[in-house]
Amino acid sequence: LTSDTYKVERGNYGEIASEDISIFKDIVGCSHVVTDPSDLEGNNIDWLKTVRGQSKLMVKPKSTKEVSEILKHCNERNLAVCPQGGNTGLVGGSVPVFDEVILSTQRMNKIISIDPISGVLVCQAGCILETANKDLAGHGLIAPLDLGAKGSCHLGGNISTNAGGLRLLRYGSLRGTVLGVEAVLSDGAVLDCLSTLRKDNTGYDLKQLMIGSEGTLGVVTALSILCPQKPASVNVAFLGVESFEKVLKIQQCARKDLGEILSAVEFMDSECMRNVTHHLNMTNPIADCPFYILIETSGSNASHDEEKLGRFLEEVMDAGIADDGTLATDYTKMEAIWGLRERMAEAMLHDGYNFKYDFSLPTDKMYDLVRASREHLKGICKSVVGYGHLGDGNLHLNITCEKYSRDIHSAVEPFVYEWTSRHKGSVSAEHGLGFKKRQYMAYTKSKEEIMMMKKIKQLFDPKGILNPYKMLPDNF
Ligand code: FAD
Ligand code: MLT
Ligand code: ZN
Repeated sequence: LTSDTYKVERGNYGEIASEDISIFKDIVGCSHVVTDPSDLEGNNIDWLKTVRGQSKLMVKPKSTKEVSEILKHCNERNLAVCPQGGNTGLVGGSVPVFDEVILSTQRMNKIISIDPISGVLVCQAGCILETANKDLAGHGLIAPLDLGAKGSCHLGGNISTNAGGLRLLRYGSLRGTVLGVEAVLSDGAVLDCLSTLRKDNTGYDLKQLMIGSEGTLGVVTALSILCPQKPASVNVAFLGVESFEKVLKIQQCARKDLGEILSAVEFMDSECMRNVTHHLNMTNPIADCPFYILIETSGSNASHDEEKLGRFLEEVMDAGIADDGTLATDYTKMEAIWGLRERMAEAMLHDGYNFKYDFSLPTDKMYDLVRASREHLKGICKSVVGYGHLGDGNLHLNITCEKYSRDIHSAVEPFVYEWTSRHKGSVSAEHGLGFKKRQYMAYTKSKEEIMMMKKIKQLFDPKGILNPYKMLPDNF
């Protein structure tokens, strides 16, 4: 799909001239300015392969100073910029829409410091989450977030999207664990909020504006983040149940029995399992059931944790809440079980054109939306599946069809947004709005909130060069 499908017109920005390319080459070095269309192909297309930009230029700075010089020049020349991290975003925010300059953080991958006493990691924005996590492990620490995209996504991208993921239940949102952010503003000014303090009540907390602003207010160049101790004992239980009501009961029992060691509660339905086993040739370790729930514990004492988990399993099996289940205490088995859940996005991508949603809903209503969508789309789509971060009330509704069609698109949207709004949910729990969902912000936010966001955007980026056509809706 291109900008035509989304009916958006190019803003009144400058066009890249050969003098601009020379200036960028002076700033970052010739080999870090990419203009070959085939080398730009992957940076112009999103991970879901649903949107395609037409950028003719990518700049790859190494330092904050270089980012500052690039943005200063773009601002003077009125050139639009699309900040890009690992390009794993799922809402079309990380790729240009027209010919925006792609500003990639892939060379900004330096760990600045890891303090094993405070647990604070300070690093450049382009550090890959998985790589940083490995470095942290050497100091007995882990990153406070984990996502299926960990092998490619950048910590700067994670901050810019306020990514949630698989550890949020235990360690909370990035809004709590990120202690500091350094960002370059549209005119090249460096906003240095790179504190490592846990508490700081001196005035407005400007770093929070950078968290989740999807590249529209500044380019995040460095960050500091509080990392927990790497747990000494991790266990996973994978259970099959016959109804969503029982999924909720299991969650309740897990909270009660596992208490402080509970670290993840994820779920998926049988159609998810069918897709992941079929498309990725994976194996369901238990009997086929309508729903599956993954419970992870992380603690410091293996025998204590196993005893608690054993008691929990006994309770849910004896009470007939779970129909089947398996326990993993070794790394290989745990990885295999986590793989079923973490690779769901990849599996759905193999199923056809993927309409992907990311709703926050009251937990007891979560699966009603999947049922309602199935009913509403009967005979039109291939799969309508539900999975997600149950413990956070975050449903990933995914709908697939053989190939994109405008008719199917209008059958799906705004139906799913209206349903979510009616049930007091949010149209984006963790992926953000990017390019594809920005026009739906009003299903969750009031007119006053949107107007205030627009004023903030105007203040930070008066010419609107930073990630135009993203996050904020038109017509307000
Ligand atoms: P990109 O995709 O490159 O960019 C995302 C947005 O941030 C864009 O708007 C971009 O302009 C902006 N941006 C990137 N870097 C910067 C920067 N340095 N400064 C300013 N703006 C910037 N998300 C979740 O929340 N939870 C999940 O569980 C989860 N699982 C995923 C699993 C898979 C398999 C995939 C493919 C994606 C998943 N995602 C998930 C979505 C995605 O990985 C996250 O949004 C991630 O945080 C994006 O990081 P990135 O470096 O790839 O950013
Ligand atoms: C996940 O939880 O798997 C991710 O957010 C990706 C997705 O929604 O498919
Ligand atoms: Zn998710």
